[in-house]
Amino acid sequence: MRIDGTHYRSVWVDPGDGWSVRIFDQTRLPWSLDILRLVDEAQVAHAIRSMQVRGAPLIGAVAAHGVALALRTDPSGANLDRVVAMLGETRPTAINLRWALERMRAALHNLPAGERFAAAQAEAAAICDDDVETCRRIGEHGLPLLREIAARKPPGAPVNVLTHCNAGWIATVDYGTALSPIYQAHDEGIAVHVWVDETRPRNQGAALTAWELGRHGVPHTVIADNAGGHLMQRAQVDICIVGTDRVTRQGDVANKIGTYLKALAARDNGVPFWVALPHSTLDMRVRDGVAEIPIEERAAAEVTDLTGRTADGRIETIRVVAEGSAAANPAFDVTPACLVTGLITERGRTEASEAGLLALYPDKA
Ligand code: MRU
Repeated sequence: MRIDGTHYRSVWVDPGDGWSVRIFDQTRLPWSLDILRLVDEAQVAHAIRSMQVRGAPLIGAVAAHGVALALRTDPSGANLDRVVAMLGETRPTAINLRWALERMRAALHNLPAGERFAAAQAEAAAICDDDVETCRRIGEHGLPLLREIAARKPPGAPVNVLTHCNAGWIATVDYGTALSPIYQAHDEGIAVHVWVDETRPRNQGAALTAWELGRHGVPHTVIADNAGGHLMQRAQVDICIVGTDRVTRQGDVANKIGTYLKALAARDNGVPFWVALPHSTLDMRVRDGVAEIPIEERAAAEVTDLTGRTADGRIETIRVVAEGSAAANPAFDVTPACLVTGLITERGRTEASEAGLLALYPDKA
C-alpha cells in the first residue's frame, strides 16, 4: 500500500537494526499514523491483545515476528515452546494466529539453538511474503465478480459493494482480503462504491476501512451497522464482500460481530454474499462453526465507551451507556455456510462447503 507516495507493508523489520519489528498503531487511526517499534515478545503480545495490530492475517504475521524476537535473547527449545504458547493465547478466534505459530515451531524446533534466531527471522519473512502474494491473488479471483456486475449496469454506474469490519491492507501484510478485489477493480477503471459498516463497538469500518479506501481514492460511504438491510431492500447493494477470521471444513465463516445479520439480510434480498479468505484462515479441524469456534469476549468498556477526536483536535473517550447498565461484548459471530454465496481464495472461487473447499485445497484434506 502506498501512503503519500511511499510503499508500506503493515509489518516490517526495522532496516536500521535488522531485528526490531515495526507496525502501525491501529488504535491511533484514523487520527494519526503512528509507527511503533516492538522489541520483545511481551510487546508483541500487548500489541495483539490491545489491537494495535489486528485482522486475522496480520496478527499471525506479527506473532511470527514475535517468536523471532523471543529467540533473539534465548534461542532454547524451551523458550520456543513458551513463546508459541504465550502468543497463541493472545486472541482466540482468528485461526491465522495458531497457523503462523505452528508453522514457526515446525520450522525451528529441530534446529540447533545457534541457528534458530536467523531461521526464525527468515520464516517470519516468508509468512509475510506468502500473505502478500496470497492477498494479491484473492484480488485477482474476486475481480471478475465486480467486472460482471459492472457489465450489467448502465455505463459509469457504480458497483455498490457492502463490507463489514476491516479486511483491507491494514488487516493483512498488504492488499487485504475483502478489499483486494475492490482495489483491483478501482485500479482498472471500474466505478466502485463501497458501503462501509461502521462496525461497532471498535469501529474498524469507520476508522480503518474508510481511511484505507479514502487514501486509495475509492468512493465510499460509512453507514451505521443497522443500515445495511434497508439498503439491500432498496437495491442499493449489488454484492457483499467480507473477510473472515476462520472458515471451517463445512464452510462456516467466523467474522466480526454483525456479519451474520448482514448475511441474513443479503439472503432475504437476493444479494450475493461473498467471503474472501487466505489459506491460513482455513481450519479443517473444525466442522460446525457455530458449535465449535471460540468467540472472543472483549471488555464491556468497548461497548459503553466511544473514542473520537474533538473539534479542537483532542482524542477523547466518552461514555454513551447509562451508568449502572451492564454491557456484553462478543467480538465475532458465525455465518453458516448455507448463507454464503461463495468463497474467494488465492486458488480461485468455490462454494462454501466441504466439497468446494477440498476441490481447491486437496492438500488440506
Ligand atoms: O477483531 P479484529 O479487528 O481483529 O477482527 C477483524 C475482522 O473481523 C476482519 O474482518 C477479519 O479478521 C478479516 S481480516 C482480513
